[in-house]
Amino acid sequence: MAQGQTARDENELEHELAAMLDIERFEPPAEFVKHANLTDPAIYEQADSDWQGWWASQAERLHWFKRWDQVLDDSNPPFYKWFTGGKLNVSYNCLDRHVEAGLGDRVAYHWHGEEGEELDITYADLLDRVQRFANALKDLGIEKGDVVGIYMGMIPEVVVSMLACARIGAIHNVVFGGFSAESVRERMEFSQAKALITVDGAARKGNVAPVKQNVDAVMGDLEHLKHIIVVRSKGTECEMKAGRDVWYHEIVAAAAEVCPPEEMDAEDPLFILYTSGSTAKPKGIVHTTGGYLTGASSTHQNVFDLHADTDTYWCCADVGWITGHTYIVYGPLANATTGIMYEGAPDYPHRGIWWELVERYKATIFYTAPTAIRACIKWGAEHPDRFDLSSLRLLGTVGEPINPKAWLWYHKVIGGERCPIVDTWWQTETGAIMISPLPGITATKPGSATRPLPGVLAEVVDEHEGKPIDQGQGLLVLKRPWPSMLRTLYKEDDRFVQVYFKKFGIDTYFVGDAARRDKDGYFWVIGRVDDVVNVSGHRLSTAEVESAVVACESVAECAVIGQSDELTGQAITAFVTLQGTIDGTPEIEDEIRAGVAERIGKFARPKRIIFADDLPKTRSGKIMRRLLRDIAEGRALGDVTTLRDPSVMAVLEEKIQAEQAAEES
Ligand code: WTA
Repeated sequence: MAQGQTARDENELEHELAAMLDIERFEPPAEFVKHANLTDPAIYEQADSDWQGWWASQAERLHWFKRWDQVLDDSNPPFYKWFTGGKLNVSYNCLDRHVEAGLGDRVAYHWHGEEGEELDITYADLLDRVQRFANALKDLGIEKGDVVGIYMGMIPEVVVSMLACARIGAIHNVVFGGFSAESVRERMEFSQAKALITVDGAARKGNVAPVKQNVDAVMGDLEHLKHIIVVRSKGTECEMKAGRDVWYHEIVAAAAEVCPPEEMDAEDPLFILYTSGSTAKPKGIVHTTGGYLTGASSTHQNVFDLHADTDTYWCCADVGWITGHTYIVYGPLANATTGIMYEGAPDYPHRGIWWELVERYKATIFYTAPTAIRACIKWGAEHPDRFDLSSLRLLGTVGEPINPKAWLWYHKVIGGERCPIVDTWWQTETGAIMISPLPGITATKPGSATRPLPGVLAEVVDEHEGKPIDQGQGLLVLKRPWPSMLRTLYKEDDRFVQVYFKKFGIDTYFVGDAARRDKDGYFWVIGRVDDVVNVSGHRLSTAEVESAVVACESVAECAVIGQSDELTGQAITAFVTLQGTIDGTPEIEDEIRAGVAERIGKFARPKRIIFADDLPKTRSGKIMRRLLRDIAEGRALGDVTTLRDPSVMAVLEEKIQAEQAAEES
């Protein structure tokens, strides 16, 4: 590898090679196909010829109090409506109907705590807990249509809280536990949440971090936020503000047992989930009841070849992200799955804990992110090798492109060369998987998400005119509405149209990813083309991080870029100019990192901080991030003639070279 060449470049080369030479192609293993639910490739053509009919057939998987009148209402694009006139309840679909069918004793989750605590929660248990908490929410005055925030880690109450909201028609707004309290405040404010459900403290690799205390420190007086409900999980000290704060266990104990499910319209919102976009203000992605659950249930069944009565399924994402919403909670529960829910980190109490749990619960399906696989590779195969992984029959990945090397390791070391791998491409916005192999049908190629699922129409188009590219690189778009698509951005309809439907017109959903199609029509997703950075599969906007850095006292100006990183896919590099004549010091770096942790969350901290006297700007004052990316990754600089002051780049280049020289010596 040439000096300065980055992991990303290497991955891209790997992808290109694999695509061009088509060296490795993995047919679905015969043993797997023998038992697979879907094995006939005709499903693609059938779904294509009547895609609305296909989605209607998938909606039949659910229980409807009243059937829909119309499958798709496309009278006001891009504001599509699915299954209009239909009535259903998500918690009823996830719980009651399974209990009524005699599956009350089936384990919904084998919950495993960080310190080895274990709890098997059955469908009947979960229904009982959800009804009581739903009543407790009602007792507090929470009504259908109210927004309820949820901020906690991977404990059973997080699932109970989501389903209790769904039961009464409240719209949940989960904030990932790794976000700072300040981010929670912002999201509660934007969504005008009426209540927040949180926790006393959270497990952090053997320590307990306060959560409620941190929330109190920043929450102040939000006019709309009437209640904070606190789960007692770790016994952490917390102050309870009279009139606002209540203990979860106390209100649940006082609540009635039975709570009938609210009959919701198919198009009623189920949840809001904030995600990063091109600007500093996060986007409130809105998902609805009927369409979202249809997508979640259908894709979970088909992509993971689910056999609900025999499988033990484990998605090790966090519920705070869309992957957790769709593939820990809603898809699996709608399908009466037995799952594993693990509270802790993959390297605590030891680096083999995931594999220990696979062995312990005999997991059959395992779904994780490429960044986690790369960490496991670094830790060494001796950790998984200590455990019996023979129960596994299917593996999945999500969140970022997987480099073929990591794919092959996963296939060999974890999958014992017998498990198909589903590389699933999707987004918070799509609600459910869009491009992925069907494991009993699709031949896989390491690094490619293969092809769109039945009913989905994806294309790679050229950047300027949006013309389809059959073979080669361009921008990824989706051409048809699908049931689990976002309906809008919360209270920002115009922004919704602007962000997703302006570039190529109202009938083309602009994804924001670059992708390549190979000679077999396979899709190879490359990464974001907007100012979104993907750190360990976590979406962040450069603008968001910039505003957190600039809020630090000594900082004058900042430009943030995503730089390739061997472990985390991308890492954040911040170019910073300081106020007055201060020089950059390690202390200021610490201050900047601490500021970002406080304003966004620890995972958003810049890995690399480069102090500069000035930043490259166009004559109109726009920072040229492209040049910063080039220089940070050691590439030849592109055109600098449009810069107001081209000498800025020479100074920066010198600085970075000196830095590199210092590192090497
Ligand atoms: C990226 C996560 C390549 C992509 C579910 C997308 C992927 C963004 C893949 C969405 C994949 C997700 N291969 N890239 N299999 N899956 N991405 O909203 O850039 O957190 O646009 O949803 O992650 O991230 P989000």
